[in-house]
Amino acid sequence: MKLHENYPLKDITTFHAKVFANEYTEFASVEELKEILSSLVIVGKPFMILGGGSNVLFTGDYGGIIIRNVIKGIEVVKEEEDAIYVRANGGEKWHDFVLYCVSNNYGGVENLSLIPGTVGAGPIQNIGAYGVELKDTLHEVETMNINTYEIKKFSNAECKFGYRDSIFKGEQKGMYVILAVTFKLERNPKKVNVSYGTISKELEDMGIKNPTIADVSNAVIKIRSSKLPDPEKLGNAGSFFKNPIIENADFEKLKQQFPDIAFFPMHHGYTKLAAGWLIEQCGWKGKRIGDAGVHKDQALVLVNYGDATGKEIYDLSTKVIESVKEKFGVILEREVNMI
Ligand code: EPU
Repeated sequence: MKLHENYPLKDITTFHAKVFANEYTEFASVEELKEILSSLVIVGKPFMILGGGSNVLFTGDYGGIIIRNVIKGIEVVKEEEDAIYVRANGGEKWHDFVLYCVSNNYGGVENLSLIPGTVGAGPIQNIGAYGVELKDTLHEVETMNINTYEIKKFSNAECKFGYRDSIFKGEQKGMYVILAVTFKLERNPKKVNVSYGTISKELEDMGIKNPTIADVSNAVIKIRSSKLPDPEKLGNAGSFFKNPIIENADFEKLKQQFPDIAFFPMHHGYTKLAAGWLIEQCGWKGKRIGDAGVHKDQALVLVNYGDATGKEIYDLSTKVIESVKEKFGVILEREVNMI
């Protein structure tokens, strides 16, 4: 185990804010993780497991040990007539995994193309985009208990997935390290999911009538690249806020007052509002305070123009929450993990 002191997190988090961790180490195998967790060097100190660093904001230096999962490898573990089970290790980049599936014609994750982060971080917030969520194809999650070092498998149901939510973010937060994820994908897929408005439009523009999963992946890549900033060029962590879910009765009142309000109908008497729309209506889109800003093309994304500190980005997010509350009476929740 190699322990680095006073380690810069700028290049391993997609916000690229200037912060340091007291100590840093990484594991490339399950044995290495066990060695780290049981080592006297870390016992009694706060620690945090980091994946792709794409959904976290450090609001100050981290006083403990950052432990990064870099276990690599993707393999087919089981085949059925129409299904294929693919196991990917947690340290794999999510988009590399999607490209592997698309190039082998395994269907189910193509709508999730170009999401930053690692495979191991995916289940924590049940990543989702363009009408598809990770939970739709996830078969099981392999984890290590941080106290007993036992390997435990969680089935899809045991993960208790919700909108940008799971057991790993809720009741069992910090208890397990995600080692690998197995997906049940469609072999030679016959259908694609283009129900999300902009995908079918993009495919039409591309002149494609009977899209394959590769076409859908390309369309999603095009849409994402046109709307969402590339974290390598402009620090960000994707959607900074969740789309708020409110009761239909409250929604009806808002709709009367704001007839153009953007929303997604849901079941069971609730409506999901487009937080990007709410934020834009408050005049935040494209605004900048120092080096922290609200992205010019997608108000749900906060960006770091260069030297913003985590605290400055956090303070900007507080201002955004306050204005949305004042104008619409709706409370936005941060989607990004604050440390
Ligand atoms: N909108 C605005 N102004 C904005 C942004 C959006 O008016 O600045 C309106 C759009 O016009 C549209 C609606 O809001 O009517 C929804 O916008 P969009 O389709 O861009 O999706 P979103 O709700 O803003 C969600 C996810 C994204 C995901 C997209 C596509 C959340 C928090 N965000 O964004 O996920 O890529 O849908 O499926 O659910 C992420 O989680 O990091 C992420 C990028």
